[in-house]
Amino acid sequence: MIKPKTYYFYSLFITFLIVISILCGCVSNQINGKKEKVENKSTNAFESSLNAKEQLGKLLFFEESLSTPPGQACSDCHAPEVAFADPETELPVSRGAHSDRYGNRNDMTISYSAFVPPLHFNEDEEVWVGGLFWDGRVNSLAEQSKGPLLNPLEMANPDTLTILKKLESLSYAELFTEIYGPDALSNPNIAFNNMADAIEAYEKTSEVSPFTSKYDYWLRGEIELNEQELRGLKLYEAEDKGNCAACHPNTISADGSPPLFTDFTYDNLGVPPNSENPFYSLPQELNPDGFEFVDLGLGKTLNDPEQDGKFRVPTMRNVAVTSPYMHNGIYKTLFSVLAFYNTRDVAEWPEPEVAQNVNIDELGDLKLTNNELEDLVAFLRTLTDGWEKPNE
Ligand code: HEC
Ligand code: HEC
Repeated sequence: MIKPKTYYFYSLFITFLIVISILCGCVSNQINGKKEKVENKSTNAFESSLNAKEQLGKLLFFEESLSTPPGQACSDCHAPEVAFADPETELPVSRGAHSDRYGNRNDMTISYSAFVPPLHFNEDEEVWVGGLFWDGRVNSLAEQSKGPLLNPLEMANPDTLTILKKLESLSYAELFTEIYGPDALSNPNIAFNNMADAIEAYEKTSEVSPFTSKYDYWLRGEIELNEQELRGLKLYEAEDKGNCAACHPNTISADGSPPLFTDFTYDNLGVPPNSENPFYSLPQELNPDGFEFVDLGLGKTLNDPEQDGKFRVPTMRNVAVTSPYMHNGIYKTLFSVLAFYNTRDVAEWPEPEVAQNVNIDELGDLKLTNNELEDLVAFLRTLTDGWEKPNE
């Protein structure tokens, strides 16, 4: 966890982004929430209120011809109807463009990723903060979007020349030159950078991070939460109960910006290895360690054993629709995640994937009853975007 004062800087940044998005008139899409987003797929992108670059980014995000073999878009693993996470909930990880290949980690939601700061060491708190992916290994959305296109376990393109050819043959290829000038697709590197820039612009829109959950309406004083949700909220905040807010903060910042439900720090919760992860049994060229594979998380990014087993605190926004959970997708329900937090140190749980650096201070023996766990789940369900007031 990290102390609240550290938020000041990010809060300013977040307010800035929100103000910009309002100025751009990008908010109209949020009003009807997710339903509209789903219908708003690539085919009718131009009816939305996105600017030209954001619209190009959206088309690319939903573009199935960009993988090798064709057929896999970013949106296949980051679908708008499940908060831009993987709609496939039975698998702990995501299937690649080659259907017999799998990544080694659970998919992440892209909603609110635009607010993740670059990876840095916070001197006051002496903790690592920020960075994209579960392990913080990339610092910008543009840089990040290049990864899956070339990852053999994901969209599997052999090189950037292949991607350039694909971009040139898009029916909307001329948008590149309209936005980035006559040289926009003149060589593989330039084209790849422009593509990444457009995708980043789309990922930063309020269409991807809408702040339209029931909890957001409640924070603005527009509606009530029911009794169970309020009990859950209390347990979520209480330091001697759930203590969830210590890492997944849930309150409005001093400057009025809404909570993101993560302090962007890293922790090893002692999550056990997921034996159902199909990555373990991939051929040696794709997984050299076979069943010995251990995911070191931030420790690998920094090459620092003191950070082994730590993963970035994920947002709780939309968590009810992004099953499975944890970096390796080991838990399928919110209740099972919470059961783990509750009794990790006092009941029979499998050994952690990485035994070093496990956080034993803030979780493991919360002494919550099953009813209290249900209350917490009810609260987490208020964080799903696209909430609509029931008809009165
Ligand atoms: C095969 C499934 C798959 C495809 C296709 C895919 N992703 Fe992902 N994405 C993942 C997984 C799995 C992770 C987490 C990986 C990790 O932490 O190592 C992830 C993480 C991310 C993140 C990091 C979010 C955060 O908060 O740190 C972003 C952003 C992202 N993907 C964007 C994209 C974009 C843009 C594309 C298309 C160019 C794309 N993804 C294609 C599976 C996929
Ligand atoms: C010490 C910091 C910390 C505290 C306290 C904490 N969490 Fe977490 N939480 C994390 C980290 C780190 C992860 C990711 C761990 C991993 O994947 O190995 C996580 C993951 C989760 C997930 C899975 C999300 C996903 O997208 O996969 C849920 C749900 C969750 N936490 C809920 C809670 C609740 C509810 C509480 C209070 C009972 C809580 N957390 C307390 C740090 C914390």
